[in-house]
Amino acid sequence: MNKAESLPVAKRARAPLAPGPKGNPILGVMADFSRDTFGFIERCRDYGDVVRMRFLYLTAYFLYHPDDIEYVVSTNAKNFIKSRNQRSPLFQRLVGHGLLTSEGEVWKRQRRLAQPAFHRHRINAYAETMTDYAQRTISTWREGDIRDIHRDMMRLTLEIVVKTLFNSDVSADADKVGRVLSRIVAPFAGQATLKWIMDNRLPTTTHRLFNQDAREIDLIIYRIINERRRSGRDEGDLLSMLLKAHDEDGIHMNDKQLRDEVMTIFLAGHETTALTLSWAWYLLAQDPETEKKFHAELVEVLGGRLPTMEDLSRLQYTEMIARECMRLYPPAYALGREAVKECEIGGFRVPAGTQVFMFQWVTQRDARFFTQPERFYPERWTEDFSNSLPKYAYFPFGGGPRACIGNYFAMMEIVLLLATIGQRFRFSLLPDHPVMLMPAMSLRPRDGIRVAVEQRRDSN
Ligand code: HEM
Repeated sequence: MNKAESLPVAKRARAPLAPGPKGNPILGVMADFSRDTFGFIERCRDYGDVVRMRFLYLTAYFLYHPDDIEYVVSTNAKNFIKSRNQRSPLFQRLVGHGLLTSEGEVWKRQRRLAQPAFHRHRINAYAETMTDYAQRTISTWREGDIRDIHRDMMRLTLEIVVKTLFNSDVSADADKVGRVLSRIVAPFAGQATLKWIMDNRLPTTTHRLFNQDAREIDLIIYRIINERRRSGRDEGDLLSMLLKAHDEDGIHMNDKQLRDEVMTIFLAGHETTALTLSWAWYLLAQDPETEKKFHAELVEVLGGRLPTMEDLSRLQYTEMIARECMRLYPPAYALGREAVKECEIGGFRVPAGTQVFMFQWVTQRDARFFTQPERFYPERWTEDFSNSLPKYAYFPFGGGPRACIGNYFAMMEIVLLLATIGQRFRFSLLPDHPVMLMPAMSLRPRDGIRVAVEQRRDSN
């Protein structure tokens, strides 16, 4: 027997728990987080790239390093489910077992069935709808108008998602669906993500109205599904694709699954896009140099006509603007997961049941990966720079198996709408209307973005 074999096997020391703020003996860090969400998540980084804390009775880890983020959302994704706040009863009432919230085999099947609806050639067919609706929106705008550009972008992307989901020309209910749906997401808008843990069961008036609206919307969606099933027509919209989809055994989605996916797509696909556009106008209004280059590209590529699918590959600077906006103002500013089994991240032990949060807001402004991180600088997005960046230093659409299914849809919509609107108008911020951040379910401007409209005279 050699010496090494004769020694008892040393028990591997368990990794330590990560350091972090202690907070209040009862609430943990809940109050600090709610009071100043962004200040708090930025300050926590002083503890390191992996930080531990407690929200009431829940242990949470914040991860700031791209490698650790990759481990959770991609390489070890199997060990994580969506975080507790995304499983709140209120949210579940809205999106059921749709793609955003389902897990395991149910999610896998739904993702496989929904994938063809998001195929590029199918999405490309919506380009004209997008530019037509944008054109219609701006047709009433006049020089000197004062507008809330955020509200305008919300309305526009709402119309587009309703049209691409239900083909509103054939469904008289589409307008109503849009109205009720936008009301229904209101309770989520006023709450920072983690606060849902606390008050999602309270019988408030907002919640009662929410349930009423949810019932109304269910009735409408089920009726549209039934009508469509009876007619059997392919309307070219997302609903037709979802109805057509079936697995290897020929089994289609049932009505409840269809309803859940429709609600999910609406919820995930409309506000995020509107926010990117709103923040883009906000940033452009403050940066004449970038705006000049943006306008020059529009003149060169479009010369005054509406953009089409074929123009997308040439609207490169516009696309860089979109990317840079999502770096500085990521509509989804956080990803949340829960560890199923104990694991180790960045040398620290993460017990089962821990809530793990990763913040686009912080990592995408990290000076280790972005020079002059606070600067709006679309030029940074060269191919070389993109390729050299650690994969999860920039993740506005998440990543791994649960990455955004609407990524291509969103980028196409953002570039087409920026080009259509930017060709005709520019915007100035109003000095007496400060723009305030509101980290709700997504990153909103709290009181909108008030602008003065200026007609461009040099667009062709
Ligand atoms: C700028 C616009 C958008 C942004 C920033 C965005 C961001 C995201 C992010 C970060 C996730 C991953 C969430 C997680 O991992 O927990 C996600 C998932 C998702 N997004 Fe988007 N999204 C956008 C537009 C869209 C659009 C236009 C649609 C549909 C038309 C859409 C549909 C979805 C769906 C269905 C999921 C769940 C995918 C799954 O878990 O399988 N999104 N999105």
